Amino acid sequence: MIYLDWNATTKPLPEVVQAMSAAAIEAWANPSSVHSMGRKASAWVERARALVADLFAADLRDVVFTSGGTEANNLAIRSAFADSKGSLLTSRLEHPSVTRVAEALEREGNARVRWLRVCEDGTIDLDDVAQALGDAHDVRLITMQALNHETGVTQPVEAVAALAHQRGALVHVDAVQAVSKVDLLPCSADTIAIAAHKFRGPKGIGALVHRPGVRLVAIMGGGSQERGIRPGTLDPVASAGMAAALDWVKTSGRTHYATLESQRDALENALLALAKGAKRNGDARRAPHVSNLYYPRAVGPELVAALDLDGVCVSSGSACSAGTSEPSPVLNAMFGPERASSSVRLSMGEVLTVEEFERVVSTFRGVLERL
Ligand SMILES: Cc1ncc(COP(=O)(O)O)c(C=O)c1O
Repeated sequence: MIYLDWNATTKPLPEVVQAMSAAAIEAWANPSSVHSMGRKASAWVERARALVADLFAADLRDVVFTSGGTEANNLAIRSAFADSKGSLLTSRLEHPSVTRVAEALEREGNARVRWLRVCEDGTIDLDDVAQALGDAHDVRLITMQALNHETGVTQPVEAVAALAHQRGALVHVDAVQAVSKVDLLPCSADTIAIAAHKFRGPKGIGALVHRPGVRLVAIMGGGSQERGIRPGTLDPVASAGMAAALDWVKTSGRTHYATLESQRDALENALLALAKGAKRNGDARRAPHVSNLYYPRAVGPELVAALDLDGVCVSSGSACSAGTSEPSPVLNAMFGPERASSSVRLSMGEVLTVEEFERVVSTFRGVLERL
C-alpha cells in the first residue's frame, strides 16, 4: 500500500516506538504517586511538558495534557463560555471538534455563533472577522485553525489575533495539523491545541497550551491532575512517545516537510493532467504536503474506495466522517456541495520513490478512466 493519508494520522517514528516500549517497561507507575516509582513515571510526563512548552515559548505551568486535539479544542472553547455567555466567531473551515462544540454551545444557550465568511482560496475572510467584531459587542472567543486539515491552507492567525485582542476577545488556535509543518511562532493565541499523532507521535495524547492567566474550566469531574483542569491518570508511555516526536519536530520536522513540497507539486500536476476540468482546492499559501483535488463528475468516496483496492490510500472528507457519503464541510464552505462531493485529499509524509510516484499516477489514471 502507498499511504497518502498522513493528515488522518501519521506513522509513529521508530524512536517514538522505542521510547514508548522503554517507558512501558520502566515507567508504568502512576505519575501522581509520590513514591520513587511514581516520580520515575512523572519524569517522562514532565519531559513531554517541557518540550510542548518550548514549542510555543510557553511556561511549563501553562501546558495541560489531554487525550488529543478533540479534547483540547473542547476544553478551550467550553472554558471561554463557562462563566458568561457571549458571541463565538468561527467558520465552517474548522474541524468537527470545533464546529460541533460551537453548535452545542448555541443549542445549550451559552453562545451565539457567528459563522465567518470563507474565501474560495480556503482562508477565512479577514474583512468579515473585522465586521463581525464590530457588529457584536460581546465576542468572547474567536476559534480558528492554523492549518486546514483538508486543503493544507494556512490561516491568518496573527492578523485575526490582533483584531480580536483590540476588542478584548480571546483567540483559540487549533494547531493540530500545523505542528512540524509550518512556523508556529510568533503565536499570539490565548489557547492552542495540539495532538501527538499528527506529528509522528502516538494517538491518545495531546495538549492545550495557554497564555498565563487564561481561565480554563474542567469539562470532566475527577481528581486534581493537571491542576484540576484535566482530571485522570496521566500516561507516561504516551508522554514518552510524544516527547520523542517533539524532539524530532524540534530538530528536523519542518525541514523534513519542506523536502516534500517539490514532489507534492509534481504529483499534483501529474494528477490534475489526468482529467479534463480537474482543479486544485485551496489556492492560498499551503503546507508543503497536502493536495486536495477536484475531479468533475467523480464521486469522492468511490474514488477513495477504488484507489484503495488498487493500493493507494487517500481520503475524501475528514477521517471522522469516513464511511458516510457526506461531502466535506470544508470544501462545501469553499465551493458548495458539487465540488465538495467530487474531491479527494492526498497528504504526504515521506518522499515517494520514483516507482511509488509512478504507481500513484498510473493508479489514478486507471481509476479515473474506469469510473
Ligand atoms: C484540524 C484538526 N483539529 C482537531 C483534530 C482532532 O484531533 P484528535 O484526532 O487528536 O482528536 C483533527 C484530527 O483530524 C484535525 O485535523
